[in-house]
Amino acid sequence: MKLTKKSGLNGTISIPGDKSISHRSIMFGSIANGTTTIRNFLMGADCLATIDCFRSMGIDIEVTDEMVTVHGKGLHGLTKPDKVLDVGNSGTTTRLISGILSGQDFDVTLSGDASLNSRPMKRIMTPLNAMGAHITSVNKNDCAPLSIKGSKIKASHYDSPVASAQVKSAVLLAGLYGDGPTSVTEPAVSRNHTELMLQSFGVDVTCEGKTATVYPPKQMNGQNIIVPGDISSAAYFIVAGLITPNSEITMKHVGINPTRDGIIKVCQAMGADICLSNVEDSNGEPTADITVRTSRLHGTEIGGDFIPTLIDELPIIAVLACFAEGKTVIKNAEELKVKESNRIDLMVNNLKRMGADAVATDDGMIIHGGKPLHGISLNCKYDHRIAMTFSIAGINADGITEIEDAECVDVSYPTFYETLNKLAN
Ligand code: S3P
Repeated sequence: MKLTKKSGLNGTISIPGDKSISHRSIMFGSIANGTTTIRNFLMGADCLATIDCFRSMGIDIEVTDEMVTVHGKGLHGLTKPDKVLDVGNSGTTTRLISGILSGQDFDVTLSGDASLNSRPMKRIMTPLNAMGAHITSVNKNDCAPLSIKGSKIKASHYDSPVASAQVKSAVLLAGLYGDGPTSVTEPAVSRNHTELMLQSFGVDVTCEGKTATVYPPKQMNGQNIIVPGDISSAAYFIVAGLITPNSEITMKHVGINPTRDGIIKVCQAMGADICLSNVEDSNGEPTADITVRTSRLHGTEIGGDFIPTLIDELPIIAVLACFAEGKTVIKNAEELKVKESNRIDLMVNNLKRMGADAVATDDGMIIHGGKPLHGISLNCKYDHRIAMTFSIAGINADGITEIEDAECVDVSYPTFYETLNKLAN
């Protein structure tokens, strides 16, 4: 994909469904009783991998242009797949499904692509095995492929060393099959979509401070879900609208859950012209239309408990910082190293190649904004967020930016380039 400088981005767009919520809607619909309908489901490769996994375990899932329908078979209705479950590039599928599979009465092996199979899985194996699960790393390297032997689950409390919704969710989902309440305490509150959606499926879940507790239900009940637009996908157009001259972009029906809205607060702290309107509720998840206009920006400092609320947006925030006056510091974000790629290294190395003043630190990066960027050719290591981030940098850089593996945007935003082109015309 080749990108060149744009003189303005204008228009109103809808944003594809939230990836985290789409995954959970398939998983919870599958283990609920009755039918779950899902509108604005994200048809990205990661969520399609989740659909395939549950189909392989006997769940009938219909997909039309309008909606996805899951015919749930109840908490104990999954059946042993006759092949290895293929989780593709998806960390969310791997970690959440491991929680569910821990409590089944059959054994499974799951595996993904090269990037997925190099990501750390000890973070879920440790708490799940402490609950009585039997999960082993097939290659004994604490990564997938994982072998999961269905087991009796003991109620448990886990003090998680990491603020990760994937770890929290894996434990809570295993806890659905426990012999009493299971709770997780995190160092900072991560996204709470699991807690909210389990509640809407009729499960007793309580949240107090940094602790979430699930009480094993007798059954879960199918729901009608409208998935909000993904704020992590909107983030590319939020930043594009702020840094591209002569721009005004409105994004409709975007999820603004307070555990996910750090990008909005950062933009406001940097002096952005960003407005929220039509605030509504969608199955317990708040949504709004977001409008941004070209803005004069200044640097800021981002760290601490705030990091989990914008963890996936940090790459595009780094680009925002390149177009802001002064210094931006991102700290306490070491989790970036274990995402689909090492996002600290990939961001800083390529921003520097484009002419930015960026320095990697142990737990983030420091950027002095205001240096003009120029185009480069880059390989994103098949990391969808890095590809979209450098596309937005590319349309604000001199010369041509070429992204070699741009097809990886299919993971979370298959229509990304179509939308970008629409706004540029
Ligand atoms: C996700 C949680 C986050 C995020 C990922 C999706 C989820 O990961 O980076 O893209 O759906 O729970 P961690 O919870 O590991 O930080």
